[in-house]
Amino acid sequence: MLSQIEEIKSRLNIVDLIQGYIRLNKAGTNFKAVCPFHNEKTPSFYVSPARQIWHCFGCQKGGDVFRFLMEIEGVDFPEALKTLAQKTGVILKKENKEISSEKNRLYGINETAVKFFQENLEKTPAGQKAKEYLISRGLKSQTIKEWRLGYALNNWDSLIKNLSAIGYKLEDVEKTGLIIKSNQPPAASRQPLNKHYDRFRGRIMFPIFDINEKIIAFGGRIFAESSEALAKEESEPVAKYINSPQTLIYDKSQVLYGLNKSKVEIRKANSTILVEGYMDLIAVWQAGFKNVAAVSGTALTDHHLLILKRYTDNLLTAFDMDEAGERATKRSLNLARSRGFNVKIITLGLPNAGEKIDPADLIKKSFEAWKKSVEEAREITQFYFENIFARFDAGSPEDKAKIAQNLLPEIKIIPNKIIQAHWIGELAKKINVREEDIREELKKTKKTEEIGETFISRANKTEKKSRQDLLFERLVALFLKYPEKKSLIARSSDFLRAHQASYIKDLDELLNNQPNHSDLYSQFSHLLVLDDEENSDFDPEIEINECLKELKGYCLRQTLNDLSKKIIQAEKEKNEENLAIFSRQFNEFSSQLIELI
Ligand code: CTP
Ligand code: MN
Repeated sequence: MLSQIEEIKSRLNIVDLIQGYIRLNKAGTNFKAVCPFHNEKTPSFYVSPARQIWHCFGCQKGGDVFRFLMEIEGVDFPEALKTLAQKTGVILKKENKEISSEKNRLYGINETAVKFFQENLEKTPAGQKAKEYLISRGLKSQTIKEWRLGYALNNWDSLIKNLSAIGYKLEDVEKTGLIIKSNQPPAASRQPLNKHYDRFRGRIMFPIFDINEKIIAFGGRIFAESSEALAKEESEPVAKYINSPQTLIYDKSQVLYGLNKSKVEIRKANSTILVEGYMDLIAVWQAGFKNVAAVSGTALTDHHLLILKRYTDNLLTAFDMDEAGERATKRSLNLARSRGFNVKIITLGLPNAGEKIDPADLIKKSFEAWKKSVEEAREITQFYFENIFARFDAGSPEDKAKIAQNLLPEIKIIPNKIIQAHWIGELAKKINVREEDIREELKKTKKTEEIGETFISRANKTEKKSRQDLLFERLVALFLKYPEKKSLIARSSDFLRAHQASYIKDLDELLNNQPNHSDLYSQFSHLLVLDDEENSDFDPEIEINECLKELKGYCLRQTLNDLSKKIIQAEKEKNEENLAIFSRQFNEFSSQLIELI
């Protein structure tokens, strides 16, 4: 594995990889760019071709080629490894063969199934009805192709037959979730026990893609004609959607529908429109708002936010903000805010219709109204204010209390004190009370969701590093950069504090045994990116010795400090023996310190 990672690195120039995503400008021996991972105007993103690493001094992210791909594509290490292996033609030998070939088998089955569903949509009468339905919902033929929508025929084994004919084993197909093995035959189906049957029947099929366009799951929607047919057969009420279960390749809490096509647009726009469900996503995309992503069949999770964070900090949500959906939505939005997102709410509406409408339907009715809704998206606190003030009478004392009760938790959660102060002022003004009173009440208020709190306090606590810590970091960087000099460091490890010495020891072991250094290099990229070699006097040995010398100084001072306390104690206790020992040690270490300086 290690050699494969090295092999990939040797075949791939980091500058080329990064240039595929952003424009780099030469700056001395390095390259500079506006950081793709945070918002900035002056470039603080550096790439060092000599070291084959990158670092942003603005957001502190950095690392090697793998780390870059992980950050920019939102993938994990194994995925990045696979992608770069493919790119460089390196064959991954030691990858867990069973798992990876099983995954590939599932992708292959899904791909074949999609083709089958697509063909059904185009070439069968029932499929044509499904297509007509989609077109009646406002989708264009081209869009249907682009998103590879299809149709699952309304019988129990058409997919099974099709896939078996090609030679797939039903045991494997079952692992994709496309078919089910009955242990109780569905009442009306009279399917014999222990027999497989198609999960999706008589449904419009939405394939769900991962970020690399591979098909990992499906959502299936009924439509008028199919629902009648299904209702006749099934004893239970027919669900509008059914979705693939969790599988080896699908975890709905980790997938945003549409991101395969929209990730680049999201980064370009530096914002994402977040919707719920397949239809809405496709409709919004088709309308030209291509910076869109959807949660499907689940609430917004932390994992979704982590993925989005790689592309943007700005969310425009078109979620259901009515009473029923409100609590779940609020929780999602507060989670997003606590993760540092700027959240705006798109209020969907036609000028004079009071009823709720979702993006797909609004776009179909009036593109202009949709466009206006997006343009008029309101900052989340503004949204809450307008909502609450529309519901209560700011003139009545009881209502004033209710207004405050509703808004204070929303104000409390605002991490930025200035912005918070602004809203405190607004509230005071609007219900005509003193700001002090609002602040008093705010102290007693709990945040809407405590969840944000731990995160915010953690994020704000930037610990200040001591000179000693910085020196040690520098030493670690030198250790990583010049592993051939590591004996120098090992020899002097008694100058280090115990935890530092054991850190170096662990590091050494890690470098020897562990295939993936990416994390290590990321952690120290801010040190590694500095090209010492540019300085002609630079000698790593001298640098290491300087570092060690200074650290030794700290170490000796600390020891002397401890000893002087012990001496005082021994004097107090009139313990002559200890006094002699500690004094001798004190003299010894102080002469060492003097020598050092
Ligand atoms: N959903 C689901 N199961 C259901 C209903 C909904 O998994 N029984 C999920 C689907 O991912 C769906 C999303 O929740 O896309 C949003 O639901 P909804 O708004 O009802 O559907 P739309 O996608 O808007 O589809 P349509 O407009 O065709 O009703
Ligand atoms: Mn809808």
